[in-house]
Amino acid sequence: MKALVLAGGSGTRLRPITHTRAKQLVPVANKPVLYYGLESIAAAGIREVGIVVGDTHAEIEAAVGDGSRFSLQATYLRQKEPLGLAHAVLIARDYLGDDDFVMYLGDNFVVGGIESLVGRFRGSRPSAQIMLTRVSDPRHFGVAELDADGRVVRLEEKPREPKSDLALVGVYLFTPAVHEAVAELKPSWRGELEITDAIQWLIDNGHVVEPSVISGYWKDTGNVADMLEVNRLVLESVERRIDGEVEDCELIGRVVVEAGAVVRGSRIVGPAVVGAGTVITGSYVGPFTSIGADCVLSGSEIEYSIVLPRASIRGVRRIEASLIGHDVEVTPAPDTPKAHRLVLGDHSKVQISS
Ligand code: DAU
Repeated sequence: MKALVLAGGSGTRLRPITHTRAKQLVPVANKPVLYYGLESIAAAGIREVGIVVGDTHAEIEAAVGDGSRFSLQATYLRQKEPLGLAHAVLIARDYLGDDDFVMYLGDNFVVGGIESLVGRFRGSRPSAQIMLTRVSDPRHFGVAELDADGRVVRLEEKPREPKSDLALVGVYLFTPAVHEAVAELKPSWRGELEITDAIQWLIDNGHVVEPSVISGYWKDTGNVADMLEVNRLVLESVERRIDGEVEDCELIGRVVVEAGAVVRGSRIVGPAVVGAGTVITGSYVGPFTSIGADCVLSGSEIEYSIVLPRASIRGVRRIEASLIGHDVEVTPAPDTPKAHRLVLGDHSKVQISS
């Protein structure tokens, strides 16, 4: 069995953070979301992974390498344009050969991994096995309609009027039967070859498509509240580990200070992580905060937030429920005149309390 991980696409949805960066590398508890997927694949006993890459291929390749750090053998499959999830399967046809495979969308996060799903698939080998989860706004997803016996009758991609609240999770298991379906597809109204249409084709042509409903799923929807929430969820399970330099501090509970980080005269209440090369002085870091690598935090207070690498926050009290991007600087404005001074990128969002 192989894995096909989709890490292409244009990356414009989680703006402004992913304007220029691969959205699969957005960090959750200081680790790219894609790494969690690769770890789940390895944990399910799969060794060969084809990674579909697009414009951001260099960044993805630099982050994943040959896959050996995940105990995987990675092969990169270049998709010239993001023409759809089923198009990714089409270009991976030679790589996949006649093997069964799990298709994993690189920006998806599935709490609890995929081991049991892969086990179930290996047992019964339906033509397709899909995962569904209840979401509050199904219009952003593929949506499944089940009959009274729990069988999938219809799948619709991003419907205006969803027939259920069961969204397709970005992890699909297939036998080679899917290639026949993909070969029959025409582009959808949005110009993409949709994997939902391929699965619908399998249903319409008498193939077995097995659903399983899961909970604990997260998908980037361009929504900062969601990102903070999944960050919280992952931080809930970190173990205390202090590898960096800590002096004159109070570190409470599950706090991770990576090697090469320096924390002085500060109070950190876990769960929280501090990335390598970061320097924190005279500050308070509250629960559910991830501070990336090479950041500076001095004379500041922050809680329930994500700070991406190389950001600096000096003399600011207090930051909460915030997502602070790479290389961002946050400082107080001069006392006179009493004014906010902002240099904000396109699509930035600022809430000022004064
Ligand atoms: O996340 C679950 C949803 O994923 C499902 O509910 C939908 O049915 C499914 O179509 C998909 O919807 P999205 O519109 O959210 O997919 P997105 O364009 O974000 O692409 C998902 C991943 O696949 C992302 O990591 C980028 C990558 N990708 C996407 C396309 C369209 C590729 O590598 N190549 C592509 O051509």
